[in-house]
Amino acid sequence: MSILELFEIKHPIFLAPMAGVSTPTLAAEVSNQGALGSLGLGANTPESAKAQILKTQELTDLPFQVNFFCHQPEPLNAEIAKQWIEYLQPEFAKFDATSPTQLNCIYPSFLENDDFLNVVLETKPKAVSFHFGIPHPHQIQALKQAGIITMVSATNLIEAQQIEAAGIDIIIAQGIEAGGHRGIFNQHVDAAIKTSDLVQLLTQHCTCPVVAAGGIMNGDQAKTMFKLGASAVQLGTAFVQCKSSSANAAYRKALFSQKITQISASLSGRPARGLLGTWHTQIDSPHRPTVPAYPYSYDLAKQLMGIANQHDDFSYGSFWAGSNVAQIRELEAADLVNQLIVEITTR
Ligand SMILES: Cc1cc2nc3c(=O)[nH]c(=O)nc-3n(C[C@H](O)[C@H](O)[C@H](O)COP(=O)(O)O)c2cc1C
Repeated sequence: MSILELFEIKHPIFLAPMAGVSTPTLAAEVSNQGALGSLGLGANTPESAKAQILKTQELTDLPFQVNFFCHQPEPLNAEIAKQWIEYLQPEFAKFDATSPTQLNCIYPSFLENDDFLNVVLETKPKAVSFHFGIPHPHQIQALKQAGIITMVSATNLIEAQQIEAAGIDIIIAQGIEAGGHRGIFNQHVDAAIKTSDLVQLLTQHCTCPVVAAGGIMNGDQAKTMFKLGASAVQLGTAFVQCKSSSANAAYRKALFSQKITQISASLSGRPARGLLGTWHTQIDSPHRPTVPAYPYSYDLAKQLMGIANQHDDFSYGSFWAGSNVAQIRELEAADLVNQLIVEITTR
């Protein structure tokens, strides 16, 4: 069965799930053009995840995917947390604020319990995808029994082989160009393979369909991925600028003015590619203390960003973007999908 038949979509174009940027409107706009819309729900509670899925189902009858984080829950090292909070205290002091005394696990993993699984089983989206790892066997089995397509991000061949062995339906090949968090299973092991190489590697060695993600901004780049064996392409950065995303004004402005991206683990505790700003440069000092585990350090980074934003200082934002951000175009989601279709089919 082709990927179009499997998903019941017209075009092999996926909107990347983007926690903090996805909205039901954006997802529905993409799905309504015959591509696959998505919701990044990794930063949600089960209740708010359910509300977003139901809202999207109100806006479209067509298929879309939902996405969760499958990171191995890590305990917080109290000493590392204390040193990190002290390290960032001068930044809080710039806004006459004091840093918090403790860090919280702001993003629970799908692996921790079945609360997110139950939301998916209840609301039955067409597909569910996972970042940072693979769900438990009983969770995969339940999703399969419910007829929900499963997808997991891989950044190298071993991850892809583990995904396939777990019985997942589709592999998302996330290359090093990709905006946002690296989907690496172990945050300290990253082969940093570029998207075109990863697609070739995975299509040669795996039998599951492979979806290319990372640095795809136009139809020509998508066509290259199809020629290398990708069954579909997944674009994130290209859609962040759409009016229906929840990106704030500072993020939108930065997407069109800052052309350089870098990968840093200092903001969230896991490596992620974002626009290079002064804060990113500063926080990645070789003399910084050890960063607390994901997502505890993200808690602190987000609190600092929130306080700075209240003072109209947006330089502490984590503006995730892929390495081809300079090719971004200002287009509504429906127009962007249609433009991609024209570029893929006619040139
Ligand atoms: C703002 C932003 C947020 C992202 N959040 C998620 C997420 O919640 N879950 C996920 O699986 N991938 C996430 N990603 C990664 C995308 O799924 C995808 O790998 C990436 O956008 C592809 O590269 P591109 O941005 O160059 O198109 C995010 C990417 C961006 C740009």
